Amino acid sequence: MIQGDALAWLAETPSQPLDAVVTSLPDVSELPQLGPGLEGWKSWFVDAAARLMRWTTPGMPCLFFQSDIRHHGQWVDKAYLVQRAAETVGATLVFHKIVCRHPPGTLTQGRPSYSHLLAFSSGDPIVPKKPSADVLPDAGEMPWSRAMGTRACEAACRFLLNETPARRVVDPFCGKGTVLAVANALGLDALGVELSGKRCRAARKLDAAALASS
Ligand SMILES: C[S@@+](CC[C@H](N)C(=O)[O-])C[C@H]1O[C@@H](n2cnc3c(N)ncnc32)[C@H](O)[C@@H]1O
Repeated sequence: MIQGDALAWLAETPSQPLDAVVTSLPDVSELPQLGPGLEGWKSWFVDAAARLMRWTTPGMPCLFFQSDIRHHGQWVDKAYLVQRAAETVGATLVFHKIVCRHPPGTLTQGRPSYSHLLAFSSGDPIVPKKPSADVLPDAGEMPWSRAMGTRACEAACRFLLNETPARRVVDPFCGKGTVLAVANALGLDALGVELSGKRCRAARKLDAAALASS
């Protein structure tokens, strides 16, 4: 775990050949320093996603777990924003899964009841050998409201293990470190970067086995 700014860290730290990124970029509500407007955050988001895709070695995947928001009546589709980034760097979409945060049919007023799990790669396309579910009916345990659910983390890590040579998961916006803990539990190495000292400390302590049994 490294406490610091993800984009500065990416700029000064080259990726290792078997590094894959699995991350959730912060929402507009988490970046008040960008100002009150949505447009500034959207530009930041697309730029940050593009930097992550450029950072990985060609052939190594970059995965995003993102939840849409309703912002003053406007639906913000974060899968679209990540795809815009992919177009700017010429990365290919390997899969797009829907992860249910609540059972289908649930009425929601705040966050939508699903999240997106998208995988991209640049270089030679990754063609999965085995089929995997496009819709995950349950995100799994979430150590906090902005966490990536443990089942989504497991789907991401199993994709890395089964379909790619990746052996280390890097999450530069790791929050409380959910995917890092799941990666370690499945035998992958893991490295996280997080701006908040409190979340860094929580990530260092997070244990996937304890999460699974909670
Ligand atoms: C959506 S949350 C990630 C949640 C995480 N996947 C989990 O399971 O806990 C985004 C995180 O990015 C962090 N963050 C925001 N700006 C950052 C920056 N410039 N560098 C590193 N982390 C940052 C926030 O503090 C927040 O914890």
